[in-house]
This record gives sequence, structure tokens and C-alpha cells, in this order.
Amino acid sequence: MSMREKLDELNRLRAQSEMGGGEDRIKTQHEQGKLSARERLDLLLDEGSFVELDRFVVHRATDFGLADRRILGDGVVTGYGTLHGRLTYVFSQDFTVFGGSLSEAHAEKIVKLQELALKNGAPLIGLNDSGGARIQEGVVSLGGYADIFLRNTMASGVIPQISVVLGPCAGGAVYSPAITDFVFMVRGTSYMFVTGPNVVKTVTHEDVDMEGLGGADVHASKSGVAHFAFDSEPECLAAVRQLMAFLPQNNTEKPPSRKSADPSDRQDEKLLEILPDNPSQSYDMQDVIKAVVDDGEFFEVHRDFARNILTGFAHLGGHSIGIVANQPAFLAGVLDIDSAVKAARFVRLCDAFNLPLVVFEDVPGFLPGVGQEHAGIIRHGAKLLYAFAEATVPKLTVITRKAYGGAYDVMNSKHIRGDVNLAWPTAEIAVMGPKGAVEILFRKEIAEADDPEAFTEARIAEYSERFAHPYVAAGRGYVDDVIDPRETRPRLINALDMLQNKRDANPVKKHGNIPL
Ligand code: HXC
Repeated sequence: MSMREKLDELNRLRAQSEMGGGEDRIKTQHEQGKLSARERLDLLLDEGSFVELDRFVVHRATDFGLADRRILGDGVVTGYGTLHGRLTYVFSQDFTVFGGSLSEAHAEKIVKLQELALKNGAPLIGLNDSGGARIQEGVVSLGGYADIFLRNTMASGVIPQISVVLGPCAGGAVYSPAITDFVFMVRGTSYMFVTGPNVVKTVTHEDVDMEGLGGADVHASKSGVAHFAFDSEPECLAAVRQLMAFLPQNNTEKPPSRKSADPSDRQDEKLLEILPDNPSQSYDMQDVIKAVVDDGEFFEVHRDFARNILTGFAHLGGHSIGIVANQPAFLAGVLDIDSAVKAARFVRLCDAFNLPLVVFEDVPGFLPGVGQEHAGIIRHGAKLLYAFAEATVPKLTVITRKAYGGAYDVMNSKHIRGDVNLAWPTAEIAVMGPKGAVEILFRKEIAEADDPEAFTEARIAEYSERFAHPYVAAGRGYVDDVIDPRETRPRLINALDMLQNKRDANPVKKHGNIPL
């Protein structure tokens, strides 16, 4: 064969590999509202930057007629490209080839990519659309999954790992996304569960469909498995791009900074109007965050899960930061099991990837109740305390209103290495709120009083004057300053600048024993 003929053959094979399972199956994929594996990569990466690896890999199985059914690439497109100009590794499972199921060869392609990403210190994004273990390959396929899980674990905290679930993801296959840093899903087309509706029906007699058992909304709002849910794949992939703008390439780099026209010394008058005069009325902490951060842009993570705490990214004076904020507009901003777990994982993500933490605090305490106690609020609440305490990134806190009880300690207090702790003049920092305190301290006197209500009111007024303000804490240095709310933005930016060379370390250990 001449060079020309060989080139023709190469081009024919390339074209063949790009068709995956063929035109008809791609059409079916489109009819279901799904994109093809390659169309997804085009949307995710910077235009024209994708370089494919292993396009000629095929499976080695021979059982059940597979010897005659080898498809180039074997159901997963792997390679690298750039995202916002930065190196990013990607795999994209191709449902048109054996339902995107994972064979030995398919797993090897992903493992090769995981090793490259780890060695070169760049993020790995996986686009999942797969019927799970390739049934014809049996235990070899299970081994392939385990090889991937191991490398997910080794890469955890070293490079950002993002899982985008764009089709089925069932059985043990769910555990790769579960180990990674972020899970994205799309309503109506993606689902995740350990056992599907049929098995559930047999075992527990519950009737549920795939969407109701493990669809995007279920995981984004109830289980907390997914951090993001979208109506379409293009929206979902655009959000992955947005997220990546906040993260560094790996744990040895600083997160990218971004220039903004928003002045560092901007003082927003709105900050004087957000808090209601009555401390038992709620307000939306989002309004505070948006009035403070660059351009009012807050990229929320886990928006619909445990809404009594907010987590997400923003820029402040150009710095990428992670925000954790109590949300008084939901359950009064109380800490419960789900909010503690949500925030703890976010704090550890930020600490692993060198994102300074900014905490906005208004917390009445932990949620009382038999349900919470029996489900383990003690061990789950401890996760958040542990996560803040061990974090060594710059850690800032602004107490807007309530900072009561154990929750005061937990929410990045000075005592657990908060670097700069500020309070608004509206802050109330004490063991508990005035009413609860008076009812305990004066129980006998209230019972014996001629006018219990007037007596209680008088004691509440005394207690509030003595404790329900920030000056006892400030007098001890537990908060560094009490500030005009309008100064919040300039003061936080100034603190981030001051802390940019912060060095802090924990004792040498194999790893801690966070109460899981
Ligand atoms: C081999 C598979 C496959 C699999 C799908 N296919 N899943 N081939 N192994 N796991 C093939 C089908 O045979 C079919 O091939 C093509 O992919 C498309 O599948 P359909 O069933 O036609 O598609 P659809 O109707 O959209 O249904 C999708 C599905 C269903 C719900 C995912 O295919 C399904 O239930 N698959 C099996 C899922 C499963 O039980 N996997 C194992 C889970 S346990 P043809 O050639 O006929 O078109 C697991 C363990 C992981 O994964 C271990 C980790 C520890």
C-alpha cells in the first residue's frame, strides 16, 4: 500500500471511531434529549482543544458473540484539552456502544487518564452515561471499576475530580462519582441508584420510577449526592465550565484570581437595610453575600440540599473564595445533620484546594429533636467542627446576628483558628438567646412572680443588655473588631490580602479520624 492508501485507511478508521455505535443510535440518543459523547466534549472544552487518546482500543471479550462485535474506542472517548485555557483531562462514555458499559479495555482507558491527570496535576472531568459493568465480561469488569475507584481515592484532594452524570449510573458504578468532588446531573435523563426500581419493588414493595428513585432533583435536594441539577445538557456543561473557573489545577497551586471592575473599597448602603429590627425575624443571607462579593456573583453549590446553610464560590477583590453561610431564611439558619455534613465537605474541599474560607454567621444553635439526636447530630455536627478546626487556609468570619452556643464555636470561631473574625453591631454572641436563658436562670422566680410575663420581660431586657451584643466577645479578642456592615467588603478584601502568604500546618499524621 502506498502512503496515500495508508492515509486513506487511517482516515476511514478515524471516521469510523467517531461514529461510535452508529448513526441510528446517535439519533436515538438525540431523541431522548441527550447529546453524543463527542458533542458533549465540544461543549465542555475550549473550542478545538480536544486531543483524543486510545481511539483504536477495542474489547478483548469473546463470549456471547462479542468476538465479532468490536467497536473502536470501546464505548468511551478519552483525552485532554483546555478549559479556560488550562489543561483538563476528560472521559466521555458513549452509550451508543454497548450501552456505554464498562469492559476491561474501557476501564483501562479511564485508568490511563486518571494516572496522567494525577502525574501532571490537572483536573479530571468524567462524563458518565453507562449501563454499568459489561455483563459479558463478568468479574473482569468489576475489577476495572475497582481500579478506577482506587485512583479516584488516590487523586482525592490532589486534583479536582468532577463527575457529570448524563445517563444511567447504577449499581457499584455510582461509587466513582460519589468519591469525586462534585456531581452534576440533568433532569429527566440522568439517574443514579445502587439498586433500580425493580429490585426495590421486590425487596421493599415500594413503587417508584427511575426519576423518583434517583433522578437529578432527588439527589440535588434529598440525598445530597448531586451538587447541581439542570434542565438540559448544554446548561449542565456550561455550569461545569463556570465551576472550574474557581478551582486551581491541583493542591499545590493557588486558585485562579480574576480581575474585577468592582472597587475593593465599595461600601453597599443596602447592608444597613437587610437585617430586620426584630431579631426573631428572618432575612435572606444571599442578599448579604451578593452585596459584598465582586459583581454580586455567588456560584452556589448544593443549592437545593440542606437549605439552612449556604455553600458556594465567589470572588472578593479578585481572590477565589469559598463561602459558608447560615441561612436565616430557612429553618432560622439552624445547624442540623444535613447542613453540617454539606458544609463540612465543602470546607474540606476548599482547604484541600487552597481556597480561603469566608463565613457569614447567623446561627441560633443546633436543631433540637428526637429525630436529630437519634440520627446522630452529635457525630454529624462534629464533622463541621472538625473540618473548620483542621483547615489551614485563610479563614474569615463575619457574625451578622446570632452566634449562640456550640454553633458559635463551630462556625469558624477564633478558638478553632479563625484568622480574622469580625462582628456587626447587631451580633449577639452568647451561650443562648435571651428568652431561653431567662427561662432557665429564673424558672423558680418566674413561677412565683405576681406578674410572670412582666418579670420575664424585665429579666430578658437585663440579659440582652449584658450579653446579646458583640462587645463581651470583642473585649476578650474573640472577635477582632466590630464593624459598620458597609465596611464588610473592604475589610474582608483587606484581610484576604493580609493573609495571602499565611502558613499554618497540622501535626504530622497518617490522617486524622474525622467522625464519619
Ligand atoms: C452489556 C449492555 C449493558 C451492560 C446495556 N447494554 N447495559 N451491554 N453490559 N451492562 C447494551 C444493551 O444490551 C443494548 O445492546 C444497548 O446496551 C442499549 O441498551 P438498552 O437496554 O437497549 O437501552 P435502554 O433501554 O436505554 O436501557 C438502558 C439500561 C439497560 C437501563 C441501562 O440497558 C440496563 O438495565 N442495563 C443493565 C444495567 C445493569 O444492570 N448493569 C449492571 C449494574 S451493576 P443492543 O446491542 O441490544 O442494542 C454494575 C456493577 C458495577 O454496574 C460494579 C462496581 C463495583
